[in-house]
Amino acid sequence: MCGIVGYIGSQEAFPILIKGLKQLEYRGYDSAGIALISESKKLNIYKTKGKVIHLEEETQNRDKSGNVGIAHTRWATHGEPSVVNAHPHISMSGELTLVHNGIIENYALLKEQLIEKGYTFKSTTDTEVLVQLIDYYYQKNGKKLTKAVCKALNDVIGAYAIVVLETNNPGHLVAARKSSPLVVGVGQDQKDYYIASDATPIVAYTKKVVYLEDGQIADITPNKEIEIINLEEKSMNVDIHEVNLDISKLSKGGFDHFMLKEIYDQPQCLKDCMRGRLFVDEENPCNNRIVLSALTNFKDRLLQAKHIIIVACGTSWHAGLIGKQLIEKFCRIRVEVEYASEFRYRDPVIEKDDVIIAISQSGETADTLAAIQLAKEHGALIFGIVNAVGSSIAREADTGIYIHVGPEIGVASTKAFTGQVNVLTLLALALGHEIGTLPDDQYRQNIAELSLIPSKIQEVLQQNEKIKRISTYFTYARNFLYLGRGFNYPVALEGALKLKEISYIHAEGYPAAEMKHGPIALVDQEMPIIFIATHHKLYQKIISNMEEVKSRKGRILAIVTEGDEDVKKIANETIEIPQTLNFLIPLLTVIPLQLLSYHVAVARGLNVDMPRNLAKSVTVE
Ligand code: F6R
Repeated sequence: MCGIVGYIGSQEAFPILIKGLKQLEYRGYDSAGIALISESKKLNIYKTKGKVIHLEEETQNRDKSGNVGIAHTRWATHGEPSVVNAHPHISMSGELTLVHNGIIENYALLKEQLIEKGYTFKSTTDTEVLVQLIDYYYQKNGKKLTKAVCKALNDVIGAYAIVVLETNNPGHLVAARKSSPLVVGVGQDQKDYYIASDATPIVAYTKKVVYLEDGQIADITPNKEIEIINLEEKSMNVDIHEVNLDISKLSKGGFDHFMLKEIYDQPQCLKDCMRGRLFVDEENPCNNRIVLSALTNFKDRLLQAKHIIIVACGTSWHAGLIGKQLIEKFCRIRVEVEYASEFRYRDPVIEKDDVIIAISQSGETADTLAAIQLAKEHGALIFGIVNAVGSSIAREADTGIYIHVGPEIGVASTKAFTGQVNVLTLLALALGHEIGTLPDDQYRQNIAELSLIPSKIQEVLQQNEKIKRISTYFTYARNFLYLGRGFNYPVALEGALKLKEISYIHAEGYPAAEMKHGPIALVDQEMPIIFIATHHKLYQKIISNMEEVKSRKGRILAIVTEGDEDVKKIANETIEIPQTLNFLIPLLTVIPLQLLSYHVAVARGLNVDMPRNLAKSVTVE
C-alpha cells in the first residue's frame, strides 16, 4: 500500500527520501514521486510510473538540491497508475504540495464544490482534491498552513496520512493522520525530522519517534519541538517513543527473494516468539510452563470470558480459524472468527465481557482496526496479536502478545502466519490451564512438544529441492484445489491463498469432505489437487476422498506424516512432515505449501516479493 517519506533538516533531502522509498517498496506500489524545494525556493517535482529505481534514473541530471522534501509510492485506488495520478500533488496556486495515503470518501462532492469555486484538476485522484481544499482554506486564512490543513480535514470523510510542503515557506512541514499510519522521527537535538508511513525508513537515523494518533496534525520545524494540535485546533501532548528495529533484518541475507528468506527464517522466528514465554525443564517436566504477561495482567477478564470473537483479514484470518479450534479445544470457550471487513459493518452482537482478538501482521489493516474500535465502543476487551511493534492495532488494543517474527517484507505472508499460530497456541494452552479445562499433565506434555516445533520445521525445509522439482509439474495448471480437515482445513485455505497471490493461478481451499458437494465437478487429468493427509482420526476418510479424485484422473500431491505408506500408493507425489501432536500440525503442514507456491511463482517468472495488485499493508478499505 502507498508509502510516505518526508524529510526536513540540514542534510540534502533527496538521498534520504529515495532510500526511504526503497525501504517502503515492500508495501507494494505502482508509481513513485518526489518533491523538493531548493535553496532558491524553487519547487521541483519528479514522478514516474513504475519503480523507485526509475525515479532515481530519470532524475539523474536534474536539480535535486534542497533540505526539505516529500516523497511517495502510490498504490492506485482512484485513477489508474500513471505519472499524472502519482503523488506529490500540487495545488492550483502552486503554493502547496502534498502526499497522501488513504482514501477521501467524499472527494466527488468536495471536487464539485471546488470546481464551483474555480479550481481545476489535472488528475483523477482524491488526493488532488485534498490539496486543492487545503489551498482553498490556506488562501482564505492568511496563508497559515496548519490552520488550513485543520479546516480542510474537518470537511473530509475518509482515511488519510498526509504531509504538506509550502513552496514559499519551506522551513516547515505539516503532517496529519486519520486511520492511516504516520510516524515522525526526531533527529539528534531536533536538528532534523524524518516522516514515514512506518518506522522502517527512519531507524537508520534516529530511534526517537512520535506516532501520530488519529485526528492529530503536526507542525514540524527543525531546531524546534514538534507541535501537535487536534482537529479542534487544541494543543496536544507529544509522546516520544523509542523504536528498536534491527536494520540488518531488512536484507535478503543471501536468498533470492525475501519470501524464501522468510520461509527459512521460521524456525528461528518461532524460537524468538517463544523466548521468555515457554519454559521447558527436560529433567523435570512438571516445571514446564507458559508465562504470558497479557494473561497475568488481564487474568480476571480473560477467565470470565464466555465468548471470544477473532477479527482479522487474509492470512491472519486463516490463523484465526486455527486459533478458534485451539481455544475451543483447550479452553472450552465459544469462539467466532470474523472477517474484520464484514464484522465492522453488520451490527454484530458484542457484550462487554466478550474478548475480541485482533490478529494482524502489519497492525495497520484498516478493517481490523475499525473492527476493534467498534468492539471497544461496546466495552469488550481488545486483545492484539500483532507483529509490527507500536502499530495502530497494537496501540489500540488493551493488551496482547506480539508475535516477534521480525519485519516481514515479502508481500505474501509466511513467517507471520506461523508466528500468529504459535502465539494462539501459547494463549490457548496457558488459558486452558488457568481455567482448568486443560489437565496439568497434558499441559506440560503439550509444552514439551511445542518446543520441538522449530527443529521439526527445519526438517521440513530440508525437502525444499524435492518441492522445487515437484513444482515444475504444476506450472502449467490453471486451477488448483487444496483439501484438508480439522486443523488442516485452514492450512488448505492458506495454501490456496499463497498460490493464487504470487503465481496468479486460481486455487481454492476446501474441507476435504465438501469436495463431493461441488468441487469434484472440476476434477480431470489437468487438475492438481493438494491433499493434506496427515495421521489423525479422519485420515481414512481423507484416503477415500483421494480415491474419488484418483478415479477421475486428478493429479494428487499429498502432505503426509513421515513413514506413511498408504497415501503413497494413491498419490502422484508425497511430501513427508515429522510426527507431532495433531493440534500443532498446521505449523508443519503449511511449510511445504509455502515452498510450493514460491517455486511455482519463480518458475513462472513472476515477481514473488511484490505480486501485482497486492500491498503489504492494507491501510484502506
Ligand atoms: C496474504 C497476506 C494478506 C494479509 C492481510 C492482512 O499473504 O499477506 O492476506 O494477511 O492483508 O494483513 P495483516 O495481517 O497485516 O492485518
